[in-house]
Amino acid sequence: MTKQYISTHQDRFLAELFELLRIPSVSADSRHKDDVRKAAVFLVGKLKSAGAEKVELVETAGHPIVYGEKIVNPALPTVLVYGHYDVQPPDPLNLWTTPPFEPVIREGVIYARGSCDDKGQVYMHIKAFEILCAQGNLPCNIKFMIEGEEEVGSDHLGTFVKENKARLKADVILISDTAIISLDHPSITVGLRGLSYMEVEVTGPNRDLHSGVYGGAVANPINVLSRMIASLHDENGKVTIPGFYDDVIELSPSERAELNKAPFELSEYKKDLDIADVAGEKGYTTLERTGIRPTLDANGIWGGYTGEGAKTVLPSKAHAKISMRLVPNQSPARITALFTSHFQSLAPSTVKVKVTAHHGGEPAVTPTDSAAYQAASRAFEQVWGKVPIPTRDGGSIPIVALFKKELGLDSVLMGFGLDSDAIHSPNEHYGVRNFLLGIETIVAFYGHYVKAVR
Ligand code: BES
Ligand code: MN
Ligand code: MN
Repeated sequence: MTKQYISTHQDRFLAELFELLRIPSVSADSRHKDDVRKAAVFLVGKLKSAGAEKVELVETAGHPIVYGEKIVNPALPTVLVYGHYDVQPPDPLNLWTTPPFEPVIREGVIYARGSCDDKGQVYMHIKAFEILCAQGNLPCNIKFMIEGEEEVGSDHLGTFVKENKARLKADVILISDTAIISLDHPSITVGLRGLSYMEVEVTGPNRDLHSGVYGGAVANPINVLSRMIASLHDENGKVTIPGFYDDVIELSPSERAELNKAPFELSEYKKDLDIADVAGEKGYTTLERTGIRPTLDANGIWGGYTGEGAKTVLPSKAHAKISMRLVPNQSPARITALFTSHFQSLAPSTVKVKVTAHHGGEPAVTPTDSAAYQAASRAFEQVWGKVPIPTRDGGSIPIVALFKKELGLDSVLMGFGLDSDAIHSPNEHYGVRNFLLGIETIVAFYGHYVKAVR
């Protein structure tokens, strides 16, 4: 029945998703403030027409939150669906084969910013809900909360959650904003990393100098900063900040063996990225390096002259943005403090260093023995013919830890993207198959969930 509905309506589903993808809802860019709102308004309309009630565009001090619900019977369990309609900036634009906000399908794959992260995945939920309503077959209560600030740290969602605990009362949170291993190997995410995000500024002389007149006699902030960043890892790929690993929970050998059973082809991984070798913390596999180990990366570095040709200059300042991905039991606040004092201490007396923190987020782990996880597992088994493997993803969804803390709710991370979908990169894409199978799997989830909690 569900399959039939999907195939009958799939062209419309995709046309609607394309309409959403055409809205450049870049939350980080204030020039797109109205577009972000337009995407929220679009979702309000689609939730209503799918059958939701009390649909509301909730104003915040930042971008709006979209809320809607369908309570069929207060005695039945309630699933709270969370997702985000904001997207990352699309640049560098010149690397897109087709423009980021003009979605197209090439060889069964949708190309557009947000196609996978997270508009495509949010839209699967709205269409699954439409199907259940159309069939008069909604087996439990559903609430939707879709935000527009995930990519910029969910600043105002936390407040909304704290102030609306009664409205958000539910039994579990369902999120599709992660990845499966592959179409042949479905998986359910059970761990997300946390995040500390820092910005540093190194100042040398009080103005840019002629690099011939002063070069070699005055500290060059770019040279100094490069050296400081390089010293943040040792020769074994370990982060050198004192105390960085203190709170990390080491997995037991059997837990590690289990994690490494997940299908993973190193040769394909390298081929996909066009690299001759992988890198990282010695003694850990690639799956462990992204799944269970904390890491540190420079995300951007700038300063001096970067224009056309050669300008001989010894710059006054150099800057970098540095992120740290954290694992369960590490605290972003503590890591931010450790980074700040360590980075200050690295500075030679020839420069001044300023360290500031951007938004961060707590790591999260979700249980596999819950009724909701079991339901998600059965839904995959039913639709994909395979029992999904629990995996730990390297990305972060900071609000998951907040849901646990404020609402006492676990999340089920039933995402359908692929690591190779190029989220946050040029040519982001999402398989039409992933989209359609995802809708079917979500519909199946509700049935299994209601059976499992009874
Ligand atoms: N959907 C991603 C997170 C993600 C991606 C989790 C792939 C698992 C697998 C989310 O939109 C995201 O990009 N989060 C940010 C954190 C945020 C605070 C900006 C991230 O991980 O960088
Ligand atoms: Mn996302
Ligand atoms: Mn993202």
